Amino acid sequence: MARTRGSTRRAAHVRHRDGIADRRPAKLLQGAAGEDASVLLLGLEDLPDECWTVLAAAGIGLARVASASHAIRALSVGAAEVVIADARKGPALAAAVRARRDLASAHIVVCAALDSPHELREALDAGADDVMRIPFEPEVLAARVAAGLRAARLRDNEALLRSLVANVPGAIYRCACDAHWTMQWLSDEIEEISGYPASDFIDSAVRTFASVIHPDDREHVERSVMDGVDAHRPFTLEYRIVRRDGGERWVLERGQVQEAGDGRRWLDGAIFDVTARRAAEQALHEREIVEAQLAEVHASRARILEAADRARREIEGNLHDGAQQRLVSVALRLQALLAGHPELAGDARAEVGAILGELRAGLAELRDLAHGLHPAVLSDRGLEDALTSLAHRAGLPVHLHTALPAERLPTNLEAAAYFTVCEALANVAKHARASRAWVNVERRDDHLDLEVGDDGVGGADFRSGSGLQGLRDRVAAVDGTLAMESRPGAGTVVRARLPIDSPGVRG
Ligand SMILES: Nc1ncnc2c1ncn2[C@@H]1O[C@H](COP(=O)(O)OP(=O)(O)O)[C@@H](O)[C@H]1O
Ligand SMILES: [Mg+2]
Repeated sequence: MARTRGSTRRAAHVRHRDGIADRRPAKLLQGAAGEDASVLLLGLEDLPDECWTVLAAAGIGLARVASASHAIRALSVGAAEVVIADARKGPALAAAVRARRDLASAHIVVCAALDSPHELREALDAGADDVMRIPFEPEVLAARVAAGLRAARLRDNEALLRSLVANVPGAIYRCACDAHWTMQWLSDEIEEISGYPASDFIDSAVRTFASVIHPDDREHVERSVMDGVDAHRPFTLEYRIVRRDGGERWVLERGQVQEAGDGRRWLDGAIFDVTARRAAEQALHEREIVEAQLAEVHASRARILEAADRARREIEGNLHDGAQQRLVSVALRLQALLAGHPELAGDARAEVGAILGELRAGLAELRDLAHGLHPAVLSDRGLEDALTSLAHRAGLPVHLHTALPAERLPTNLEAAAYFTVCEALANVAKHARASRAWVNVERRDDHLDLEVGDDGVGGADFRSGSGLQGLRDRVAAVDGTLAMESRPGAGTVVRARLPIDSPGVRG
């Protein structure tokens, strides 16, 4: 609004505005053009110009307008705040102004002759703010106009505040510092939040504000607010509102205590709906929990596998150093017995020979068993040699291609790679009816790529056995991925990609 407040302080002039009825061109009405007037005169042509000089002396700008519509135009562009009108034109002007929300701050004074009190009543009924009898004392005019200007500006400020408050995305309030939080003033936004209109809460007309606070939160609200009040600090708190439809909303409230002159205390503040923010926080929190649980499961799976591998290595070691060694020495002794006793009868020799044969077969089985548990060659000589030995023992032609670094890889990574190839080749032998197979193992940047393929019957499925499933778990435990291509009749290819520097991988 382009209102020139300063104009009231400048020397006042009554001057011509658009459409001014210049019927009585007097000295007073020929003011300097271009200055904003604060007061408009409508009608009242019969009064001498001297009536108005008091306003000029008080620094109040004055302009005459020809009609109510001219007055309204001047008010709507903010060129004036007070209109002094006669009883003829005043009531219609007052009615027209009151019908316009945007002119709510305008102050209308209607003047009427002493002998026509009904005219004054009529003006007030039409919406005039003030009435004056003619003739009036200059001082009375000055005082009434000054009061009118003050009232207009106050209303203007109020309108500004109302418009600002209406645009705040929260409910603004003033309430008593009592057990009900009795609302003295509350903006309409509360209806968005609670489902109840603000008027329900004003003076607790229909319900108290305390009644819509979630019962479990009431104590917390009271404590937080009163702590702030006692310490004369602003308070901030979050709590739940129970809506009219039974739903809950989380709100953030900020406020501060204000002391009224009469010793009463008010709380002034704002209430914002933060339900969406709380829900997002909650979702994030839940996701963090799930992620932590997943990480724990992941870590424990890796630990279980590691422990199992360690146990297998130990059993393999014990078999190798214990039972296997003893049986080997028994076999050697039997061999020596046969060699050192040529006099032994043929049937006894045959019997010992048969025992020796059994013993060797048993030893071979034991070696295979120990190898299956944990291949000593993997621990002793590394992945490349262990894969070579696997390829040789596969029972069909296997083309092996490796591109591995000279240095050893982390133990559980080597084990994952080894057991992947081992299981895939075992499957080829058991299920594929293939004529050949191939194994590619390569280190690429920060991961190890494995591929085991065959030209067999295909149709392999993760769900129909436990071997591939277990393989997938083992690969996942080192943060790797396992994929399989196996169309019926088109052979099978198993691919694994194992990251080398993943946290799941330990040396
Ligand atoms: N290379 C393959 N060629 C054909 N079929 C296969 C192959 N590998 C696995 N399969 C099929 O997929 C199933 C699941 O394999 P797997 O999980 O290793 O179980 P299993 O213990 O039977 O070996 C096997 O039972 C077999 O029917
Ligand atoms: Mg299998």
